[in-house]
Amino acid sequence: MKIVLVVVLEEVTGTTRRPTTTVMAQDLLLPEFIHPRLKSHRFGRTIHHFLEIGSTNDAARQFAEQGAAEGTLVLAEEQTQGRGRLGRSWLSERGAGIYASILLRPVVKPRGAAVLTLVAAVAVSEAIEQACDLHADIKWPNDLLLSGRKCCGILSEMQAERDDIRYVIVGIGINVNHSDFPEELAQRATSLRIEGKQTYSRVAVLCEFLRRFELLYDDWQRGNRAAVLQHWVNRSSFAFGKQVTVDLGSGKKVEGQTAGLSELGNLKVKLADGRVEEVMSGDIVAWR
Ligand code: BTN
Repeated sequence: MKIVLVVVLEEVTGTTRRPTTTVMAQDLLLPEFIHPRLKSHRFGRTIHHFLEIGSTNDAARQFAEQGAAEGTLVLAEEQTQGRGRLGRSWLSERGAGIYASILLRPVVKPRGAAVLTLVAAVAVSEAIEQACDLHADIKWPNDLLLSGRKCCGILSEMQAERDDIRYVIVGIGINVNHSDFPEELAQRATSLRIEGKQTYSRVAVLCEFLRRFELLYDDWQRGNRAAVLQHWVNRSSFAFGKQVTVDLGSGKKVEGQTAGLSELGNLKVKLADGRVEEVMSGDIVAWR
């Protein structure tokens, strides 16, 4: 007889308890379920799992400060203070998504580390394809889109001293089994479940991501920088020929046609007058 354990993670609002996403017990992001399926050698070998946490990136930073090894992974079923890029928050519905932060100790100069986020985006895109048979586009620098809506975001945070990196935390939020989104996000966000019309195993997506990310990261550390960036270009419809408006912050914008990546992962944008500008950081707010 096969016994299937189902865990209903409940949301407590005032006096009422509303069941949220139903998670098969074996799809909780517990080390016991992940380790037997893990094909990476270092990434995810040490896992800290939380049912609820403020932000996995903050927890990973604390483990890093205590000397944790490269590849240490922090996972949560829910985040109460999930953070996104540019000071935004990250919706972290319990049990529905993958909220993961991985600790890296790369041997490169700080200016080279921006590429890491692109590498992670490629690994997520490959993992979604392999585990769910869905093709996620990559919007520079590191948003993953399905049908033009965001299904994954990546937040990398670096700690450096003088000209040396102490560590980098790569935080990944993947909308896996969300059935819907609050009104203010519904036009811009999606999940693997909404696009694929079925639920997916978070453990399978995560294990595939860790395998791909470790392979690409090791390749990048060995110096194969151009090859790794080429993977990004191959997976992104934003790499060449897309008309974009990039918000650079402080009221500045760049408009033009994308023309590939620089070796540091900056986006090249060809302006109307033919000049090419390299954008180091920003947000593509409009495209066609
Ligand atoms: C973005 O697209 O703005 C980045 C979103 C990153 C969200 C992830 S979820 C796990 C990790 N912990 C956080 O607080 N943020 C990242």
